[in-house]
Amino acid sequence: MNKQHLGLAPVMPREGLLFGADYNPEQWPRESWPDDVALMQEAGINLVTVGVFSWAQLEPAEGQWNFAWLDEVLNLLHAGGIKVSLATPTASPPPWLGKKYPQTLPVDADGHTLWYGSRNQFNPSSAKYREAAATITEKIAERYAHHPAVSMWHVGNELGQISYDDESACAFRRWLMDRHTSLDEVNRAWGTTFWSQQYSTWEEILPPRKAPYIGNPGQELDFKRFTSDQLVSLYRAERDIIRRHDSRHPVTTNMMGFFHGMDYFDLAAETDFVANDWYTDPGDRASWQLGALTHDLCRGLGDGRPWLLMESATSAVNWRPHNVAKEPGALRIDALSAVARGADGVCFFQFRQSAFGAERFHSAVVPLAGAKTRVFREAAALGAEMAQLGHLAGSSVPSRIAILFDWSSWWAAESAARPSAALKVMEQMLAYYRPLLRHGLNVEVVHPGSALERFDLVLLPNLFLLAQEHATVLKDYVAGGGHLLVGPFSAVADENAKLATGRFPEILADVLGVTGEEWLPLAEPVPVILTSPAAHLDANDTQARVWSEDLEVHGSNTRTLAYFGWGRLAGKPAATANPWGAGEAWYVGADLPSPALESLVMAAVGAAGIDVPVPQGLPEDVEAVERGGTLFLLNHGSATCSVELPGRYGTTTITLPPFGVKVLSQKTNRVYS
Ligand code: GLA
Repeated sequence: MNKQHLGLAPVMPREGLLFGADYNPEQWPRESWPDDVALMQEAGINLVTVGVFSWAQLEPAEGQWNFAWLDEVLNLLHAGGIKVSLATPTASPPPWLGKKYPQTLPVDADGHTLWYGSRNQFNPSSAKYREAAATITEKIAERYAHHPAVSMWHVGNELGQISYDDESACAFRRWLMDRHTSLDEVNRAWGTTFWSQQYSTWEEILPPRKAPYIGNPGQELDFKRFTSDQLVSLYRAERDIIRRHDSRHPVTTNMMGFFHGMDYFDLAAETDFVANDWYTDPGDRASWQLGALTHDLCRGLGDGRPWLLMESATSAVNWRPHNVAKEPGALRIDALSAVARGADGVCFFQFRQSAFGAERFHSAVVPLAGAKTRVFREAAALGAEMAQLGHLAGSSVPSRIAILFDWSSWWAAESAARPSAALKVMEQMLAYYRPLLRHGLNVEVVHPGSALERFDLVLLPNLFLLAQEHATVLKDYVAGGGHLLVGPFSAVADENAKLATGRFPEILADVLGVTGEEWLPLAEPVPVILTSPAAHLDANDTQARVWSEDLEVHGSNTRTLAYFGWGRLAGKPAATANPWGAGEAWYVGADLPSPALESLVMAAVGAAGIDVPVPQGLPEDVEAVERGGTLFLLNHGSATCSVELPGRYGTTTITLPPFGVKVLSQKTNRVYS
C-alpha cells in the first residue's frame, strides 16, 4: 500500500476539472501580462505551469537571484483567479553552469559532450548539477510555498537524461554494489564468462560505452535501470526540498507515456499524482489509439486514480518530420479522450506561441495571429465544456481488464541481436489492445507486481522478462479464477535478461499447458487456422507474419485454438487454452493479424464473463469509454459514423459527425453535447 492510499499525500485540486497551459511570460514584455491573464479567463483556463525553463532569468549568474518578475507574474495570476503549477527550472540549466562546471554536462555513449545552447544538458549523476538544482529549488520553494496562487509543484520537465561519463561510471558502480552486493554477483548476473568479459575489480566496470561489437545484455539492462533510478532520485531530491517548505500542495512531474528511457512505475510511486504529456499525431490516423493506451497506462501508474494531461498540443507540433495541424474539432476530441480515460484535467503546451526560439512553429492556445483565431475559439469552447463536465473530477474508470507492462522487460526484449527485430513490444501491446478498444472495453496498463484480484482478464502481449515472484502471482491469479492471455516470446528471461533453460516459457509451463522448443521468426507469412472459436476469416486475416513458435501441448485438458496451416509447423499449435484451478490460461505463439487476434482476445473476454459494451464493434475511428456513469463517444475520423449501443443509455443508434463527440449520462439519459 502506498502513501496515497493512506490519504497522507496532498491530492490534485478537485473543484472541477483543471484546464490550462504552460505559461512562459519571460518571452513577452511585462505590459502584455495582464492581457494574457484576461485571455486565460476568456478561455476558461484555471491552471498554468510557470517557470519551467526560467533558471537563467531567476539566477542569471551563480548565486545572483532575480525573483521580482516571478513575484509579479504570480500576483497577477492570483488576482485573475488562475492557479499555478509552479515548476522547478532544473531541466534547462543556464550556460554559466556548463561553462563553469563542465562536469554538469552529459556525455554520450561515444564520449561526446552535449553542450548548452538547447535544453536538457545535465548529467543526472553530477554532484555539482545536483547541488545547483537543489539550491534553486530551495530558493523557489522557500519563496513561494505560501503564495496563494501556488496549487501544485512541477519538478523539472520530462526527465530522461543519460550520461556515460566518469562520474556516472562511479555512480553506476555504487548502484551495482547495492543491487548485486558483490563483484562476483555482478559477474554472475551479467554472464561475463561469455567473451572473456569477467571483471576483477570494480574500477573496470563502465557504463555500456560504444564498443566494437554487440554489448553485454545484462550490463545494458542494469545501466538502463541505473539511469532510471538516478532520474527518480533527482525528482525525489527536489520533491523533498519542496515538501520541507510546503506539505499542503501536491508535487509531480510530467511523464511521456511509453517513454523508453525511464521506468515510470518507479517514478509514479514518488509523485502525488500522475501527470503526463501526450501529443496525438494528426498525420497518423491511428495515433489516437496509442493515445488511448497511454491514458490507460496513466491510470495504471497511479493505481487507477485520476491523473493530469499536463501537456498536449492545440494543433501542430514542431518536432515531427512533417507537422500536420489538427483538423477543426480534433483539439476537443483529443482532450475529451483523456478526460474519458481518467484525466482530471487537460493542459496545453503552451499558452502563447513563441515568436523566437526552437519552438516558434509549435501551436499554442494563443497563436501568433492572436485570439481571434480558430484555435483560440476551439480552446475556449473546450474550456467551457470542461467546466460543464466538472462533476467527473475524482471519478474512476472501472476496468476489469489489465495489460501487464514492465520497462525492464521492454528494455531487455529489444536488446541487440535478438531472434527478430520485427517483433516489437509496443506493436504487440497495441495489437492486443485494439480488439478491446474496438469493443469499448476499459483497460488498465499495470505492472506485473500489481495486485490482480480486481481484474477478470489479464493480458501479457509480449512480456519477455518475468520474475519468478510475478509468475507465482499470475499462477495464483488463474488458480483463483482469473483469466490470463499470454502472447509470444513472453516469460522467457529472468531479471538479469538471462534466458531460462528448458522448454519455454518454462516459468509458466504448468499454468499454460503448452511449451515450445524453438522460436522461429518468419521469412514469409504463414497461415494460421483457428479452430475455436469458429471464426470465418479470410486467409489474409489469419497469417502470422514475423513470428512463430514450435509448440507442443502437454496439459491433459489443453485445447488447441489455432494451428499453423502450412510450412514446417503445419498442424502444430499456434494458440491454446488451458483450464487451471478455477480459471483459464491462454497462449498465442505467433504474431497474429487483427481479425484473428481479435477473435482470440474476444473469446478470452467472453470466457472471463466480461460484459462487452459494444458487442458488434465500433467503427474504425470511433472511441467509446465509460467514466463515472458517463459514456464518451468520440469520432476521431473525418467521416460521419453511426454507433449501435446497448439499451442502458436509453438510445440505440448514435450518429457522430466528423470529429464529433457525444457525451451521455447513464443516470439522466442526458446528452451533454
Ligand atoms: C514537451 C516539453 C515541452 C515542449 C513540448 C513541445 O512536452 O515538455 O517543453 O517542448 O514538448 O511539444
